[in-house]
Amino acid sequence: MPNETAQDATPAVRYEPAVTARARSHAPFRLRRAFALEDFEAAARRHLPAPVFGYIAGAAETGRSFAANRLDFGAIGLVPRSLRGHVHRSQETVLFGKTYARPFGIAPMGFSALAAYDGDVVLAKAAHTRGTLAIMSATSLTALERVAEETGSRWFQAYFPGDMARVEAMTDRIARAGFETLVVTVDVPVNGNRETDLRNGFATPLKPTPRLAWQGMTRPAWLFGTAYKTLRRLGMPHFENLDVDRGPPILARNLIRSFSGREQLRWEHVQAARDRWKGNFVLKGVLSPRDVAMARDMGCDGIIVSNHGGRQLDGAISPIAALPGILQEAGEMTVMLDSGVRRGTDVLKALALGAQFVFVGRPMLYGAALAGAAGVHYAIDLLSAEIDRDMALLGIGELSEMTRDFLVLPEALEHRSAP
Ligand code: GLV
Repeated sequence: MPNETAQDATPAVRYEPAVTARARSHAPFRLRRAFALEDFEAAARRHLPAPVFGYIAGAAETGRSFAANRLDFGAIGLVPRSLRGHVHRSQETVLFGKTYARPFGIAPMGFSALAAYDGDVVLAKAAHTRGTLAIMSATSLTALERVAEETGSRWFQAYFPGDMARVEAMTDRIARAGFETLVVTVDVPVNGNRETDLRNGFATPLKPTPRLAWQGMTRPAWLFGTAYKTLRRLGMPHFENLDVDRGPPILARNLIRSFSGREQLRWEHVQAARDRWKGNFVLKGVLSPRDVAMARDMGCDGIIVSNHGGRQLDGAISPIAALPGILQEAGEMTVMLDSGVRRGTDVLKALALGAQFVFVGRPMLYGAALAGAAGVHYAIDLLSAEIDRDMALLGIGELSEMTRDFLVLPEALEHRSAP
């Protein structure tokens, strides 16, 4: 079992309806016209240089999976119950034995420290302050040891190469830092085909070109508040967590990103990591019930059903559409979901279909970029306030009451979920 940790010592912030109901009254200035998570993108587009914004907002190829993530949530109908008088509503959720104040957390996102000053630390701290968790990304620019130490963060997401020695060394490094839950992402044997990045000249490492300098200069708030501040206070960011050793700096002319070997990653490498890891072991990026059965049989504790926010295989089905089929193979594993969650009703639909927890990505990072911790708090509060209102409108007081009875599924989904 994982050791007692800083996060264990911090009691989960209990849900306070009065606080979330007031979410809108403490909107940060740059988010004053954002009334829902879907509004954060427009504000971020004005604030971030085109390549940084495009990297976060972008999706693979034609954006079919990206669109399906939203459309498929929208295709599920809700059937509210009336006159049940739930004055007190709770969003408390237990995940791997810990109680969180919300049923959603922050998905792992690379390059957070390029979009927001000290982004990885800001996201983790803001999540904890609001009684939830952020998963730290392997493509982060902050040493995982610092994030674990300063924020109490206990969930790390790794990209493993298909090389047993490197898998074992990295697993040991993550464990030494005190992380308790290891999330291994399996949908990135190669990078997705993201044409937005090609159009904007976003490459990793970033190439210091006159165009990049101009793109930065046209966003002065970001240039001084994030880029210059980072260089002055924290130094040149590096790829810190892709391997056991520190990777190259983000801004370089000739360095090749240390992403080698992912194509060779196979089940036996993941099994070795599972056997070595003492805490909770989670696979992220599974959509096929057959893979779920493999994950279950190899001793995974959980899965995150995900199409990587539509950033990998374009045309991959949405996680919400995959969920019913997946649950049939999940056994005792904890089933979580990300990709396309933007509304309180999305969260509730995922829970009703059997997910135990969901993760939200891009809007949280936009919040951090635009207003630091206050922007992330605002995003979390808005979503929590929606869930609270939706629970009242549906006639439930506890999330455990959110069952399939409240849903009308489109035919394809109904068919997939048939026993
Ligand atoms: C990294 O995981 C990305 O989606 O860019």
